[in-house]
Parts: sequence; C-alpha cells; structure tokens
Amino acid sequence: MTSIVLYCRPGFEKECGAEIQEKAAWNEIYGYLELTKKEGVVFFHLQNSDDGTKLIEILPLKRLIFARQWFLTLTDKIELPSFNRVETIVEALGTQWQYTDLRMETPDTNDGKELSKFCRKLAVPLRQQLRKHKILTPKGDDFGANLHALFLSGQEVILGYSLGTNSSPHVMGIHRLKFPSESPSRSTLKLDEAFLYFIPKEEREARLSSGMRAVDLGSAPGGWTYQLVRRGMMVSAVDNGPMAESLMETGQVKHYQMDGFKFLPSKQNVHWLVCDMIEKPQRVAKLMAQWLIHGHCKEAMFNLKLPMKGRYQQVTNDLQTMKDIFADHQVKYEIYAKHLYYDREEVTVHARLLSPLPLIK
Ligand SMILES: C[S@@+](CC[C@H](N)C(=O)[O-])C[C@H]1O[C@@H](n2cnc3c(N)ncnc32)[C@H](O)[C@@H]1O
Repeated sequence: MTSIVLYCRPGFEKECGAEIQEKAAWNEIYGYLELTKKEGVVFFHLQNSDDGTKLIEILPLKRLIFARQWFLTLTDKIELPSFNRVETIVEALGTQWQYTDLRMETPDTNDGKELSKFCRKLAVPLRQQLRKHKILTPKGDDFGANLHALFLSGQEVILGYSLGTNSSPHVMGIHRLKFPSESPSRSTLKLDEAFLYFIPKEEREARLSSGMRAVDLGSAPGGWTYQLVRRGMMVSAVDNGPMAESLMETGQVKHYQMDGFKFLPSKQNVHWLVCDMIEKPQRVAKLMAQWLIHGHCKEAMFNLKLPMKGRYQQVTNDLQTMKDIFADHQVKYEIYAKHLYYDREEVTVHARLLSPLPLIK
C-alpha cells in the first residue's frame, strides 16, 4: 500500500489528518487515515497508489498548516533482523533510484527519543553502504530526493522519499534553535523560528533590516520585542504588563501601556506588526487584516491561539475571514500559516499585501 506519512506536533494528529484528507480531496486524491494519538505521525493511505507522486508534487508542504514534514512510502513496514539490518534496508531499496540525503526518523515520543540514539548509530554504516551502492549520491544537490527511514522500533522501519523542492530541510521538519539567555522569555524562540521559516534567506536582509519600525501587540515581558531589537529595529511595545528593563535600556523600545486593539501608529512608517496577544483568534485575525488594509504595517506575523476542540476548523475560518477582507478591498495578498516547532496550542501566521493599496476613506 502506498501512503503519505506526515509528522506533526504530538497531540495534533487529528488536525494534521483532517487537513491532508481535505487538501488531497481538492486535487481529487482520496485515502483513509491511520493515526495514533500523541505520536506525532499520521499515515494517509492512498486509495490509488499512483496518486502519491502527484500529491507530493502539486500540493506545497508550505500550504499544510499542521504537517512539519512528509514523505511518500516506498515500502510497507519492514521487519528488521537483529543482525544485517543495514543489508536488509539496502536490499529493500534496490538500485533503481538515487537520493541526495538520508533522514533517520522516529515518532516524536519519549520512546522515539530513545530510539533516535539507536538510529544515530545505525546511520553511519547505513550511509556507507548506501553510498557504496550509489543509492546515496554525493552531497550538494538540494533539488534531488531525500530518503526517509522511519523507525517505529529497532525491529521495524518504513522507507520513503520526499522531494528536495517540496519538503522541510530539517529532520522531521524540526528547526531547533538556541535560546538566547538575554531574552526575557522563552516565547522569543517562536518569533525567531517564524522569521526563519516564513522569510526566505535571500530576502531577510531587505525585509528584516536594521532601522525598520515595528509594533509588538501583547509584548510583555518582551521575548518577541527582543527579536526585533536584536535585528536593529525601533519597537512600539504595547501591553499593560511590564517590559524587561534590559530591553527598555537599549533605547530602541517605547512602551505603551494600553489595549492592543486600540493602539494605532501615529505615522504610516511601520514595517512589521507582530502580535502574540492571548485573545480570541477571530478578533486577532480581523485586527491584523485591518492593519494591512489601512497601510498601518507592511507585513504581519502573529499567533492565533487555538481552542482545544475544532482547531483545524478554527484556523481555516480565521484565515478565510482575512481573505474575505482582502478580497472586499480588491488587494492581492500572501498568507501562510504553520504550526511551528516552538508553537504550542497556537499557529503562526504571516501575511502581507502584494498589490498597491487602493485609497481607503
Ligand atoms: C503570551 S504573552 C506575550 C509574550 C511575549 N510575546 C513575549 O515574548 O514575551 C501575551 C501577552 O498579551 C497581553 N495581552 C492580552 N490581551 C491584550 C490586549 N488586549 N492588549 C494588549 N496586550 C494584551 C498580555 O498582557 C500578555 O502579556
């Protein structure tokens, strides 16, 4: 059976499954789901095996909110013997296809963490053998296919591949970042990851540059503001709560103790609006769209906090609300949402307008 395997945050398997099923159906591709709660892995078993290659080509991973990474299976579960594991894997692959990278993966659970030590050890001889048989090609081609080996235990593996052009460059789609000790809160990693994920490397200098003005709604104690300050921006930080002294001392931050829904910049010179307010996601989505439509900011990066139930439906509705507002104002826009590694019960959204703003009275 051919399946798409998707990785998500443990606890979000239902959302990840509902999303792939819906977005595959838009492309007339159907299948059924197999998922185990809290394992962070979803299997989408395809009704028609030939649809797998089509789906991983036409559906951008970037368009999936809850999947961090995915691959298309090449094999069913393979039972591994206690000896000759490497040979068994090499044999199962055959020599018909070549891959540019090998990803050793496990479910994102405590057992999976233990298993990853075993995977690290096995990776060395496996890579050597794959190179010897020319199944793994020399490094350097980012556009080739990645070979995925998902270990369910030391005795069970599933093999598959993803396209270099439509997959995450990180193992299991997880971009681990170092917590900067000067930041006043761990939330800082969310905005750092969001900038790295949503803004392409070659555009970061222009779109995240020193001297830009930014507004941070729901800023206290200042983890997100810290990310803006460290990039040289001047920040209006809006929150009734106190901001870290260390940030105020930089001279780059002005603190407004007021409601984030009432704050407006005095000039149209703000590039970034960021928002981490714990508020109803519909309210936040509307506010973000209004800022963009009125030209109060050029780009917005914000979190939508999710309720416990109906989380996929909730995000879809919130994004639709924003798209409707943009459509009403006849502007072209770009909007992407992702459940990032450092996000918890929330997703991060990036939005900006692509066409000039019509005049709004
Ligand atoms: C998750 S915390 C923000 C953490 C911050 N991003 C950081 O990295 O340090 C949410 C903040 O939103 C603020 N908040 C909630 N509703 C707000 C509102 N209507 N206006 C302004 N701030 C609000 C809270 O006071 C709280 O400090």
